[in-house]
Amino acid sequence: MVNEKIRRPIIAGNWKMYKTHLEGVKVVEEINNRINKNDKEQDVEVVVIPPFTALRSISTVIKANKMKIKLGAQNMHYMSEGPFTGEISPVMLKALNVEYAIIGHSERRQYFDETDELINKKLKKALDVKIKPILCVGEPLKIRELGRQKQYVREQLNNCLKGLNKDYIQNIVIAYEPIWAIGTGKTATPEDANFMISFIRQRISRLFSPIISEKIRIQYGGSIKPFNIVPVMVQPEIDGVLVGGASLNAQDFIDIINYKKRLKK
Ligand code: PGA
Repeated sequence: MVNEKIRRPIIAGNWKMYKTHLEGVKVVEEINNRINKNDKEQDVEVVVIPPFTALRSISTVIKANKMKIKLGAQNMHYMSEGPFTGEISPVMLKALNVEYAIIGHSERRQYFDETDELINKKLKKALDVKIKPILCVGEPLKIRELGRQKQYVREQLNNCLKGLNKDYIQNIVIAYEPIWAIGTGKTATPEDANFMISFIRQRISRLFSPIISEKIRIQYGGSIKPFNIVPVMVQPEIDGVLVGGASLNAQDFIDIINYKKRLKK
């Protein structure tokens, strides 16, 4: 089975609040040494998303070694600067060659009270300064049990994407992350993830345009590991994965990135 994707797959590792900058540099070097560099311009885009404190060191290592690995941040403020103690501005991230930023991760929504309205402001700002946002959406267990996941995600998309500039919208990556699958070892079935992602694409088509919806990459996230990456990536609508736990271990993350080696020809 040869699985050629229309959109370039994006595999991103969200390290959450793990790893010092020294540990982070080691992992990135290990990943770089072991990813398939013979891939023509690497047909999978690889992004590491460490804590803020590791961005500077990892950015330097990526640049010095001309690595193809991209750098992302886990969050950002919606202003360029200001009296916001403890916050990080997207301009500061840009200065470190940060290309992506996760916006609206469920842990930010759950533990730091981030609302769709705040996420909407952050998305607008990210697109303005040319940081590519990875917008996370996904339903909690209660909603899934009621079978209301489509309505829930539709509402999140309507609110978060409100008023976004059509010219830049295709730079957004969306991650469908059902909350009940994050860090729990439970995954959505590949078919179910594909169904929800296809639903998200239809919503993008309605909110923006069919052309834009065909260009936007939509990832799945939630307990992705080397053993379950292949059946997820062969789904036609799934353009990559956002990986938490398994991205902390270089070997596991490499096995996920190199999933193509395990596709049957
Ligand atoms: P997990 O996390 O892979 O550990 O479930 C995914 C995420 O939070 O993005």
